[in-house]
Amino acid sequence: MNENQKRGSFSGTLGFVLAAAGSAVGLGNIWRFPYLAAKNGGGLFLLVYIILALTFGFALLSTEIAIGRKTNQGPLTAYGKLNSKWSFLGLFSSVVPIIILPYYCVIGGWIVKYMIAFLNEDMLGTTADGYFGGFITSPVFPIVFFVIFLFFIALVVYKGVNSGIERLSTILMPILVVLMIGIGVFSLFQNHTDGSVTRTGLDGLKIYLIPNFEGLTFKKLLTVIFDAMGQLFFSISVAMGIMVAYGSYVPKKTNLLKSVNQIEIFDTVVAMLAGLMIIPTVFVFQGQEGLSAAGPSLLFVSMPKVFNAMGGIGSLIGIAFFLMVLFAAITSSVSIMEAIVASFMDKFKMTRQKATVVVTVIALVLGLIVCGGYSFYYFELTLPNGSIAQVLDIFDYISNYVLMPITAILTCILVGWVIKPQAIIDEFTANGEKFPRRGLYIVMVKFVAPVMLVFLLLQQMFNFIK
Ligand code: PFF
Repeated sequence: MNENQKRGSFSGTLGFVLAAAGSAVGLGNIWRFPYLAAKNGGGLFLLVYIILALTFGFALLSTEIAIGRKTNQGPLTAYGKLNSKWSFLGLFSSVVPIIILPYYCVIGGWIVKYMIAFLNEDMLGTTADGYFGGFITSPVFPIVFFVIFLFFIALVVYKGVNSGIERLSTILMPILVVLMIGIGVFSLFQNHTDGSVTRTGLDGLKIYLIPNFEGLTFKKLLTVIFDAMGQLFFSISVAMGIMVAYGSYVPKKTNLLKSVNQIEIFDTVVAMLAGLMIIPTVFVFQGQEGLSAAGPSLLFVSMPKVFNAMGGIGSLIGIAFFLMVLFAAITSSVSIMEAIVASFMDKFKMTRQKATVVVTVIALVLGLIVCGGYSFYYFELTLPNGSIAQVLDIFDYISNYVLMPITAILTCILVGWVIKPQAIIDEFTANGEKFPRRGLYIVMVKFVAPVMLVFLLLQQMFNFIK
């Protein structure tokens, strides 16, 4: 067996694109993108997001995928292979997925629970808030569902790149898109009367799509830009070691530029579909106020309330919705586990099977700590950005808000100033392909992206522009 066969590889471009898109399309697309769009002037946010995706996002995603393919290594060893003095960066980008995997799987467990709850209709007669609170503070059930979810993810990664990850993504991603389109269309035809006001899905659609420049100040515009940048950064799964790991499994004949474009388009279209699905529905049943929920409270409280308010069909839509969310969470979790497994295989010369078992045990221990944060040792901590946190939020803050921007800044410095952007461009043009956005890429990676990331880091850490 040669080195490549041992590490595994995608069978071709489609498998890679779907797996990478599967990673990119995750909870962020569903529980944050629609909320940010509604909060930030609808179409205005979409416009800023697309511009950033084509410039900032394009540069970061291209860089990581090329680093993976060029070095043929997982994140832990890839950076050191580019320049031995920069091995420490591998450590940064491997710590991030180690922190994220456990809590993402805890949330994955909550999703499984909710899908079953809609199947059994066992939420009927309870308030959605009470149901969620009761569930996550239970000392047993969240752990059970977390373990089920984690073991499923581990099984996929254990099976390997080709027969595990790639096969899973080629099945789940098309179903996910079909479910989203179905629920999205359904949501447009909803209407609901509250006292004397009738709200329709189309009114909600207008809030989402039509740019709202009303009361737009410079400060507000800055908030829109930061929100879009932070969201994009998280959404394309960069600075988590994932794209380096997946890049290392991309066949040499694959056209990287086309793949990067397709991944970004896929991720953005799905985020927009999520908005189409969520904004009109929430608006119809809860009015403008409902649109201020994001994250777990959107997914596990607001949406269930909406489904309950729909009457008979609500439980069916609820099942479809949580199935779709589950698929998004599975393919992202698989990718984050793979980032760690790839690192362990390359660094410690472990077999995939052994690395998967080790990583699962680590995630299990950390995940139990996360679950316990809502029950055994519940506490509230105020973070430097002002939000109140439990264990899960602390993990999220350290990884997303601190380590990820730092990893990305350092990656830009390494590529922009040490190994030079041409090294990445060469990987893109290895088979004689064209790289038309060469100038843009160089300017982005050397100057614009690192500067923007420094501001993003400060904003996310301290929330100074409120
Ligand atoms: N792009 C993913 C999302 O939007 O949710 C980011 C991600 C988070 C990927 C966590 C993987 C993961 F485990």
